Amino acid sequence: MRCKRRTQTPMPIREIATKPYLDQKFGTAGLRKKVVVFQQPHYLENLLQAVFDCVPELAGQTLVIGGDGRYHNRDAIQAAIAIAAANGVARVIVGQGGIVSTPAVSHLIRLRQAAGGFVFSASHNPAGPDGDFGIKFNIGNGGQAGEALTDAIHARTKALSLYRIAEGARVDLDRRGSSRIEATEVEVIDGIADYAALMQELFDFPRMRDWFKRGGRLVFDAMHAVTGPYAQRIFVELLGAPASSLLNATPLEDFGGGHPDPNLIYARHLVELANAEDGADLLAASDGDGDRNMILGRQQFITPGDSLAMLAAHLHLLPGYREGLKGIARSMPTCRAADKVAAALGIPCHETPTGWKFFCNLLDAGQITICGEESFGTGSSHVREKDGLWAVLAWLNVLATTGQSVRQLAQAHWRRHGRHYYARHDYDELPTAAAQSVMDALKGRFAELPGSRHGDYGVTAADEFGYLDPVDGSQASAQGLRIVFGDAARIILRLSGTGTKGATLRVYFERYEQAEDRLDLDPSQALAPLVALAEQLLRLAELTGRKAPDVIT
Ligand code: G1P
Ligand code: ZN
Repeated sequence: MRCKRRTQTPMPIREIATKPYLDQKFGTAGLRKKVVVFQQPHYLENLLQAVFDCVPELAGQTLVIGGDGRYHNRDAIQAAIAIAAANGVARVIVGQGGIVSTPAVSHLIRLRQAAGGFVFSASHNPAGPDGDFGIKFNIGNGGQAGEALTDAIHARTKALSLYRIAEGARVDLDRRGSSRIEATEVEVIDGIADYAALMQELFDFPRMRDWFKRGGRLVFDAMHAVTGPYAQRIFVELLGAPASSLLNATPLEDFGGGHPDPNLIYARHLVELANAEDGADLLAASDGDGDRNMILGRQQFITPGDSLAMLAAHLHLLPGYREGLKGIARSMPTCRAADKVAAALGIPCHETPTGWKFFCNLLDAGQITICGEESFGTGSSHVREKDGLWAVLAWLNVLATTGQSVRQLAQAHWRRHGRHYYARHDYDELPTAAAQSVMDALKGRFAELPGSRHGDYGVTAADEFGYLDPVDGSQASAQGLRIVFGDAARIILRLSGTGTKGATLRVYFERYEQAEDRLDLDPSQALAPLVALAEQLLRLAELTGRKAPDVIT
């Protein structure tokens, strides 16, 4: 019998040889690198395969894919789909146009009971061919992968020799609907709809619609990043805000050349708009991937720590939170305004190390309802990421429900609970040794500082913050240095864990005032004595060679 030889058609699923990459240090915030690094052949594929190898439960289950719309987003998503298919993922859910914000990915993972999800984003880092690209992996609870998993992924990237890919697979990301790659179902969905529906469960949309009808004015700046389409759907289409309420609402691959980090530096124009004669009632912005927020009202900037406290105080008025709050959490450097609210409500206030993962444990255990960080991050039990638009909607709902202005709410809050003046000073790109010497010098004075007096302030404690997780019993040490002046003030020092060049030293200042005539001071003047004291106690100029911080937020 003649053996009929068929011409070998290439198998759709192929194993491709790759060299291990040594620079794929995958952390809990994922991996961020220049676009050109991600564009190297096999680079992203190598990292993705490492994730599939370390998370075997993705095979046979659902995977969510989103991104912030930055340059390289679509190519990365196509690679992720092709590798997911080759690794036996049953269903891939991807946002139309590749657009799904970080909190919306967190929600989709939970809603669709996915085993995990990718967010392609470098958060607020500049985008475009010369900018940054990034990838994060979230697990089945919707929160970021923990350290044990990201360490395993990193180790795997260094050992890989091949990856599996459904070669040539390309999905039309702009057309909603289902298609198949081998046994994998790929669903292109509206990345906004489920998130908008969740917001409608949590907040009183009719009341907010009415607020707009009665002339309430919002300015929301999407900074040409991911939240533009969300803001269009929610504020304009569902709430009836005029289209002119939105600034920079079209996502651009280079974020319009901007730096979508909503704070007093990169969203300075909002401060100017808020201070204008006829400023809007609520002004807000979100960052590249939609997890951060900045809140202002007419003539009033709300610090993130105050925003957490003020939202916590009003949350029970909003539909999704009528049962009240179980607890509040704030990161250690965040001002203690939330503690005052928790005490008044008779609920616990947890002080955690910097980073959202510590909140996720408390949220999963049902111990807290709201949480936040000084770095413009606020969120609640509705997802396992911070959520920029959620914070803006919560403020809008509070304004619509109370009928008060942001400034009135702030002033009433301070009269009741006192005011925490707050600022963060960043010293960027320091030589590591210089940054470390500041930390070491302070640690060296821990024994002598308590009991000492410095002008109006007496030191009650000087220590290094450590955390025992009440949920899983894990310990986190070396989480920042604190000089505590009782209830009156704190100075805190930390080295950034996310900086990319040299070391970033963060110095945090908090001053508490209760006296009626000291509730409306100029914040930078209010903090000036503490800043001077820090200079003297920490010898910042001498040890860093810098006369002033690079960034004040
Ligand atoms: C910074 C912020 C921190 C936030 C993190 C990720 O980390 O300070 O609050 O959780 O980015 O968005 P840092 O650079 O201070 O380690
Ligand atoms: Zn972000």
